[in-house]
Amino acid sequence: MRVKTAVLISGRGSNLKSLIAACAKPDFPAEIALVFCNVEGAGGVAVAQAAGIPTKVISHRGFGSREDFDRAIDAALREANIQLVCEAGFMRIHSDWFAREWEGRLLNIHPSLLPAFKGIRVHQQALDAGVKISGCTVHFIVPELDSGPIIAQAAVPVLPGDTAETLAARVLEEEHKLYPNALKLVAEGKVKLEMGQAVFI
Ligand code: GRF
Repeated sequence: MRVKTAVLISGRGSNLKSLIAACAKPDFPAEIALVFCNVEGAGGVAVAQAAGIPTKVISHRGFGSREDFDRAIDAALREANIQLVCEAGFMRIHSDWFAREWEGRLLNIHPSLLPAFKGIRVHQQALDAGVKISGCTVHFIVPELDSGPIIAQAAVPVLPGDTAETLAARVLEEEHKLYPNALKLVAEGKVKLEMGQAVFI
């Protein structure tokens, strides 16, 4: 049985596309059973539909609190019997309740070598700091933003003359390889969140 996985997105969905491609391989241990999006008309929803994946779009606007919105996400995930969640450009911070509810089953990709450069405008942060190497990280989500235990990372050089856009594009290429590999590890049970740490088996 392949692990029923949901992908949460807010935007164009290029990481979603790479996860869909990986899951299309017959021996891949996960399948994407739901794409959840909080933005009407986001490009990633069309990507999911083109692949025949069920989608659910619910705007966060109109919910009284983060937790109320997260309870709507949780209901959609449970309705689809989701076992594992991959966030890929999902631009909402979760309530502590949601992070705890899905603890160990909630992954995110972030376009820096965490713990450096959390939050937004990540590539500009890297350029401003003058680092020569940046990259991307897949980690378990915990209540504190961009701070969960690291599952996998890839390094990417920062080149002279880079702008936030050119660096983002170079990092994104690595994201598209890293996320499927990290999902595979988790879906196969080769890495687990235990006592707040990523444990490799
Ligand atoms: C990626 O760079 C991801 O790391 C970040 O948001 C971006 C989403 O891009 N969290 P896409 O929607 O997957 O193309």
